This record gives sequence, C-alpha cells and structure tokens, in this order.
Amino acid sequence: MNHSLHRPKVISVNSPSEAAEKTSNMIAEMLVATPRITLGLATGSTPIPVYQDLVQRHRDGTLSFAEATSFNLDEYLGLAGDHPQSFRAFMDEHLFRLVDMNVSRIHIPDGLATDLDAHTKAYEKAIAAAGGIDIQLLGIGSNGHIAFNEPGSSRTSRTRVVELTSDTIQANSRFFDRAEDVPRQAISMGIGTILEAKRIVLLATGPAKAQAVKDAVQGDANESCPASLLQYHPDVTFVLDAEASSLLQ
Ligand code: F6R
Repeated sequence: MNHSLHRPKVISVNSPSEAAEKTSNMIAEMLVATPRITLGLATGSTPIPVYQDLVQRHRDGTLSFAEATSFNLDEYLGLAGDHPQSFRAFMDEHLFRLVDMNVSRIHIPDGLATDLDAHTKAYEKAIAAAGGIDIQLLGIGSNGHIAFNEPGSSRTSRTRVVELTSDTIQANSRFFDRAEDVPRQAISMGIGTILEAKRIVLLATGPAKAQAVKDAVQGDANESCPASLLQYHPDVTFVLDAEASSLLQ
C-alpha cells in the first residue's frame, strides 16, 4: 500500500456542464488510446452529463466501448438489477443501452446476491483478473463519502456490505417515492479497492459538495472524510464547478 500523501490535482471551471465535459474528455481520450480499457463507473446525478457526452460521441462515431470492461462502484442491497431505482438500471438507462458495450464485460454488484461474502470476494477477483481499473470515476457525498464508503470507513476496506448513513438515505430519497423505500444497506467497493485504480477522477458540482470537497482536498487525510483518503493516491483529479470549489483556498 502507498503510504505517502499527495496533493490532488484540481480543475475548477465555471459551470457543471464544463466540469462534465472536462471529465468526459479525460475518459474519452483514454478510451480512444486504449480501447481495451477497464473503466470504474459511478452512478448519481453528477455523472449524468458525463454519460450524455460519452453517448453523444459514440453516436457521432468517434467513441466505441466495444472492447471496454466496466466495474461499477456500488449497488443497493435487496434491489434486483431491473428494479427502476437500482444502480444497474441507472447505468443501463444512461450508458450501457446507449453504447456498444459488450454486456459480458459489464460488472456491477448484484443486489440480490445471497452469498454476500463469496459475491464481494468474486467482485474483487474479477477486477484483478481484468488487470485492475484504469480510470475510476467518482462522485462525492456531502458527508465526504466515496462510493458508499461512509465516514469511518477504513483506508484498507474492500468490496463489502455497508450500512448507509441517515444523511445518505435522506439525500438518495429523491429517487424513491418515500424515504422508507431507500435500502439501508448496499454493496460497495472499498476505499482500498478504489485506491488501487491507476487513475481517479472525482467530479463534484453544486454548493452542497463545497465543504466535503474542501475537507477532501485541503483537510487531513482521515476516515472522517472518506474522500480525503484519496490523498494516498498519486493520480487523483478533482473536477469542480465554481460552487463545489467555492471553499477551496
Ligand atoms: C454512486 C456513488 C455515490 C455518489 C455520491 C454523489 O455510485 O457511489 O458515492 O457518487 O453519493 O451522488 P450525486 O452525484 O447524486 O450527488
């Protein structure tokens, strides 16, 4: 494990759409250079314009995902992949069905897995067998979470079942009819898993992310802000709009 700390690179632009474009440029450049790339993908509101841009490039004929492999960060426990609020359904809707991904190379934790220990270990093994993740796309929770690694998650954590905090349940209830419907647990890549990606890009937009971004980039690297543990990785880029970067000095 890498024990030295690094200052993350910060790209700060005005609008959320510019931030998304910078992010999709990074991913598209890598995909063009290395068609057999392994992508680490995120769900949530923030990356939607990134996926829109990548889909547009595919439609324009400049980007193919045919040789790519993907691993998503997380999935709600208890939701089937075809449940409308599952992360699998989100990815199908925003990317997978709209590009030429080979379905056999798409990986996302199975919210209905019964042997969770075997399933999470197999997920880690599949990442390793694919040669590791070349570029991991991340969002950030307003409490500093990355994937579903909530505050207190260990730097060495691996793919596992996690409990969601009330903050996260509240934030994600916007996608469900009622807050009670938000699953209380998820399967999530660990921070240790994420730190093994060769390159990491974290996209954050909007004022609700400003404090978490400040803690992650300029605070001490510790478990109270999981995203601050990205300082242990030598190649992390935070792509921010003006609001998300507003508290950075
Ligand atoms: C998504 C994920 C989460 C989100 C974060 C921000 O796969 O793991 O960590 O990136 O909750 O979500 P949004 O973008 O909806 O604010």
